[in-house]
Amino acid sequence: MRPMFYRLKNKTHAREELVRMYRDLTGRQGLRPDGQYWTLCGTQTARNSELRQLCHLGLLVDAQFHGVDFDPKIIGKNRRIFPQAHWYAGSWSSVIRTLEFRPEVVYLDTMNVVGLAPARRIIKETIFQCPKGTILFINLMQTNPYSGYNRAPNDEEVLNNIEQDIPPEILSYWEDTGKHYVYSATSITRMATYVLRRVR
Ligand SMILES: C[S@@+](CC[C@H](N)C(=O)[O-])C[C@H]1O[C@@H](n2cnc3c(N)ncnc32)[C@H](O)[C@@H]1O
Repeated sequence: MRPMFYRLKNKTHAREELVRMYRDLTGRQGLRPDGQYWTLCGTQTARNSELRQLCHLGLLVDAQFHGVDFDPKIIGKNRRIFPQAHWYAGSWSSVIRTLEFRPEVVYLDTMNVVGLAPARRIIKETIFQCPKGTILFINLMQTNPYSGYNRAPNDEEVLNNIEQDIPPEILSYWEDTGKHYVYSATSITRMATYVLRRVR
């Protein structure tokens, strides 16, 4: 069974770190009034989920939260608990091609491994769809307990891959904010968060 990510202590710290980085980058406490936060959401509970934690930290209100997940059951439950938030059942890539995708912040909270094809694909697709001003937090696994994949982290690798995968003209719209955060999701899963911003 998958862990309930939001319950993990280190995940809560990572959330606080995300909010701190957002504030450093923008000088604002919370999203703009019309700002949207988009995430690969998983299960969101009333008491202590990503949505609840971010509201509690003052980053956003329910109506600014947009959650995407493959699993329609997860989306249905989330919608019943948080009817004012926006929920989409389907693949991230197809959902973000909709007109509603106007994020201020994207939390691309993947379970993909740094450098491998699925991670590179979802990052590329997201970079192509984000409008000017988007702050893109990319969360990737540096170790993967399910496949036994484990190697030393390489902070440069994600950025190098992006440079290889994205045409220079599109890449010139983006800056590496230099912000980076590594944490252990479980005792055997190390995650890294990379932060890019679309500046033009
Ligand atoms: C790491 S969990 C989300 C955790 C949540 N953001 C939090 O902070 O508590 C990632 C979720 O995204 C879903 N997911 C992964 N890749 C996806 C994709 N390409 N399209 C749609 N859903 C995806 C998975 O089913 C999983 O529920």
